[in-house]
Amino acid sequence: MEKQIINGLKILQMKIKYNKFIFLVILTFLTPGAVFSSQPIAYLNTSGYEPAQQETAQGKNGMITTQHFLATAVGEKILNQGGNAYDASIAIAFTLAVVLPRAGNIGGGGFMVMYDKDTDNAYSIDYREKAPALAYKDMYLNDDGTFNDKKLSTFGYLSSGVPGTVAGMWEVHKKFGSLPWSELLKDAIYYAENGFNITPYMEDVLKNYNQKLSYYPETKSIFQKDFPNFTNKKLFQKDLANTLKRISSEGKKGFYEGYVAESIENDMKKNGGLITKADLKNYNPVWRLPLISNYRGNKVITMGPPSSGGVHIIQMLNVLENYQLNSYVHNSPEYINILGEVMKHAYSDRSKYLGDPDFFDVPIKKITSETYAEEIYTSIEVGISTPSEDIHPGMFLQQESHETTHFSVADRFGNIVSSTYTLNSTFGSGVVIEGTGILMNNEMDDFSSAPGIPNQFGLLGSEANEIAPYKRPLSSMTPTIVMKDNELFFTTGSPGGARIISAVLQSILNIIDFEMSLEEATKARRIHHQWQPDVLEIEYYIDDKASKELIDMGYSVKIRRPLTCIQTIMYKDGKYYGYGDFRRPDAYASGNIND
Ligand code: DON
Repeated sequence: MEKQIINGLKILQMKIKYNKFIFLVILTFLTPGAVFSSQPIAYLNTSGYEPAQQETAQGKNGMITTQHFLATAVGEKILNQGGNAYDASIAIAFTLAVVLPRAGNIGGGGFMVMYDKDTDNAYSIDYREKAPALAYKDMYLNDDGTFNDKKLSTFGYLSSGVPGTVAGMWEVHKKFGSLPWSELLKDAIYYAENGFNITPYMEDVLKNYNQKLSYYPETKSIFQKDFPNFTNKKLFQKDLANTLKRISSEGKKGFYEGYVAESIENDMKKNGGLITKADLKNYNPVWRLPLISNYRGNKVITMGPPSSGGVHIIQMLNVLENYQLNSYVHNSPEYINILGEVMKHAYSDRSKYLGDPDFFDVPIKKITSETYAEEIYTSIEVGISTPSEDIHPGMFLQQESHETTHFSVADRFGNIVSSTYTLNSTFGSGVVIEGTGILMNNEMDDFSSAPGIPNQFGLLGSEANEIAPYKRPLSSMTPTIVMKDNELFFTTGSPGGARIISAVLQSILNIIDFEMSLEEATKARRIHHQWQPDVLEIEYYIDDKASKELIDMGYSVKIRRPLTCIQTIMYKDGKYYGYGDFRRPDAYASGNIND
């Protein structure tokens, strides 16, 4: 079976050619002011790589969408073996840890939102990393209270939280799995042990991260062994294969106890990290009630704290429901103005009120209330950008790394899984634990190190998100399911740090308000405003006239390269549709699920 997948995918990989020259030529024109407004949507693929997804995937018996076609193929295989969406998701999570090492992980954590057909109920599990017991509030500050900008929160051993992915998958399997656990790790082990072909896109990522991946010898020996000649090479991860084998035979104990836990503790001790065997043994994922709301007659099921995503998606949708959005031209200055203003309010509240609900009383009800939405709605003056300094968290930034990844699965039984998980930055902390192949996260940076000190995504925080032992850092990851008449309408999610929330919002608006097809909704340009810094980001380009209108309204407009990657599955008239976002060219949806 593996051979079959490999042969099929070799053909696919051969199709994925890229042309840097074209990329550079196009980029040259991507300056503010360039007039491209009448370009067809396909023109927006400026990455220089031919995307794996060429057309919308269709399937009657299920659908998978992930950020790597090999993981999608593994998910399909599991569904074809009779597994359900949960089984496929677990297999995908482990496979992505191998084939998409920049984001897929067992050394990180995430969230999963589910709709379970049997129980006709929605569930969500929080398998986000936790701060180690030895973590403390001022751990990234100098003695005089100033921020220590030696990258301690983003790079190296001190930046890692206690990973949650393996425990999260274990819990999901215990509750909903139908195939044996070990069956779900087989393909991940296979690709780690026997290697898999590096795509042109992945090759460039490995090259671009040469410095980060070369600092620690263990990391370098795996990810930069062939630098700079990755062409036609395979990536082998033998230690990771052995770790996965332990997890396969011992379950979650194979990670949180024994050889792996000991290796993590030893390596941490040697290098100034904090994670201990006790932290690992005590790690617990949490089943949390998902947030459920209604938008124009559709049921929105999304992730609650410690993700900020769901709270703010619901908050923004509540405000936006007051507008007849489809009476505006999509992405016209007027439409962008409304979205931008609403986003500012949401991200402003995020900075003050959002954090781990086990440590801080997050005012979810207030933020998502109709009354508060009305208050925000009446404060917005269409045609004007209210300066961010005049918007404060309700009276009660900037660069981007590329990783985190979202995957969605629907099965023939009607179960839906939407999961986003991450190492935080691309390749996380840059640390691979000696002898285990485990690339560790740098999720500690998602805490607020100190008031006024933004994290790597420019996000500000306060007491709600300050560091404490065992606490979970605030996240923006927003796995979301939208149902109509008790059937799936669509499920969506994205990587992109702070931009995840605005991307998921626009994915919802594109489909519900503008009735776009899956492909159009994915390809449409996205905008982003996160209150601070007071900058309106627009993807790809904007024409002179529109740009001037927005500047006249008071916006500081910035053109950004594409940063998010929406993975959506839709359901209509008995069929699933899937589309892997071209913004990450290896992304791929497929619904070739047999009866
Ligand atoms: O949980 C969060 O919000 C961040 N750690 C996500 C990071 C991310 O999406 C980076 N990728 N694009």
